[in-house]
Amino acid sequence: MTKDNINFILNNELVSVQNIETNTTVLNYLRNDKKLTGTKEGCASGDCGACTAVIGEIKNNKIQYKSINTCITFLYSLNAKHLITVESLEKQNLHPVQNSMIDKDGSQCGFCTPGIIMSMYGMYVNNVKPTNHNIDKFLSGNLCRCTGYLPIKKSIKDMYKYKKNIIETKKIFNQLKKIKKNDILISKNKSKFFIHYKLKSLLKDLNKTSDYYLLTGGTDLSLEVTKKRKNLNNIFYLGSNEELKYIRVKNNNIHIGAATTINEIIPVLEKYYPTFAKMFERYGSEQIRNTASLGGNIGSASPIGDSLPVLMSLNSKIITIGKIKKIIYFDDFFIDYRKTKLAKNELVKEIIIPIYKKNTLKCYKISKRIDDDISSIFMSINARVENNTIKFIKIVSGGMASTPKIAKLTQDYLINKEFTFDKIEKAKKIIKKDFNPLDDVRASKEYRTKISQNLLERFFNEENNIKSSVY
Ligand SMILES: Cc1cc2nc3c(=O)[nH]c(=O)nc-3n(C[C@H](O)[C@H](O)[C@H](O)COP(=O)(O)OP(=O)(O)OC[C@H]3O[C@@H](n4cnc5c(N)ncnc54)[C@H](O)[C@@H]3O)c2cc1C
Ligand code: FES
Ligand code: FES
Repeated sequence: MTKDNINFILNNELVSVQNIETNTTVLNYLRNDKKLTGTKEGCASGDCGACTAVIGEIKNNKIQYKSINTCITFLYSLNAKHLITVESLEKQNLHPVQNSMIDKDGSQCGFCTPGIIMSMYGMYVNNVKPTNHNIDKFLSGNLCRCTGYLPIKKSIKDMYKYKKNIIETKKIFNQLKKIKKNDILISKNKSKFFIHYKLKSLLKDLNKTSDYYLLTGGTDLSLEVTKKRKNLNNIFYLGSNEELKYIRVKNNNIHIGAATTINEIIPVLEKYYPTFAKMFERYGSEQIRNTASLGGNIGSASPIGDSLPVLMSLNSKIITIGKIKKIIYFDDFFIDYRKTKLAKNELVKEIIIPIYKKNTLKCYKISKRIDDDISSIFMSINARVENNTIKFIKIVSGGMASTPKIAKLTQDYLINKEFTFDKIEKAKKIIKKDFNPLDDVRASKEYRTKISQNLLERFFNEENNIKSSVY
């Protein structure tokens, strides 16, 4: 039976929501409806972290918690989840993360602090070791505008020393378990928000709807609401559909359900494609990686979407579902700027990545900042060199055309050639003809061209252990 409301736990209170606009973000709900103003709005685009909260969901019979940006999360996606805001921590006689921030003078302007506290809390509840690497990773989505990161980092290093607060997870677990995962349809002012827990009912409703938006993590789509002030009618939320959330390895292929998040994918990629996993560590911020899906990156079809050149260079395939199931190669999927082969009433169901055991995979993400930045240029190279001869090479770039683009002329030149500096020098001249780069605020056409040439040289140097001071 379809329900017309959502139920979730807000801090310690079980709440039911149905009469609020379908485009409402969690942040606006907290501040405007619940008057919980500890969660702040800085950018409303997922960039600053002032709005960070933590959500929990039952997985493998326990609650798994993660930090999110509430400014770009739709309220109705919270069904059957536990939302923890900074107010909840305050009530529990100062949590260790708060005590540590006070003792190490980590709390500064007060505007960014609640978000930083919640990112620390996300780390704390998962018992993440406070190494420099992990601290940078977990703080990657929190801007401190007064640049006081050192005391904050010291607070994180020390936070486990404080006496643990007992959180009543058992009670929350039992309450969450009781929330039935029936399909949901919220209707408000002619706008609808659908949640389906099974693909069959999702496809049935999708086929009956002509004008709709697919929503998974919302890290891209929500900006249409928060930045462009659009009203999105008929939202189909895919992020809770377990039939779209999986990662399996079989017959030398990795199968990834479209709604699987980047942080869920990283551990599997670490085994098969460590450079791909490493690149994903620079995908947005911790909050973004906790929410953003692979299907959403493909659905956005941005020429600078980071996963696209890599998946294309690995000859991956996309399974789409709608009236019929289709299998489409990445090479054929993107047809123009943000246009794909996806037809009306279809969605991406799965991504299949072949495992090339003998090949080298390089994922070069060039952006102005290391963390939380979109690529200016991206280059992925999948190659196999045997007896100093290039036996296989696929080079795909992002930011070099209106879609992710294969460097076909360069590949054709390099295949079966000796892997020497001279050949790479020649390839650098050829790659100029492969691309017609974008010219925008992130980088000029000339810069992108030059970098694409340099990346070929970097690939050669890295493979031959030649150190260069340029990179
Ligand atoms: C602060 C910030 C940093 C970011 N950093 C990066 C980055 O480093 N690299 C990068 O590549 N991107 C980045 N992004 C963009 C975005 O996070 C990614 O594209 C992300 O993977 C989108 O996934 P999502 O689940 O949030 O998609 P959503 O926002 O839910 O959807 C995005 C689009 O895809 C469509 N869609 C969603 N699911 C499906 C599906 N299953 N089938 C078909 N269409 C679908 C939606 O209709 C929508 O058009 C960033 C965004 C923000 C806000
Ligand atoms: S308000 Fe800046 S990330 Fe949400
Ligand atoms: S804590 Fe807000 S600017 Fe540094």
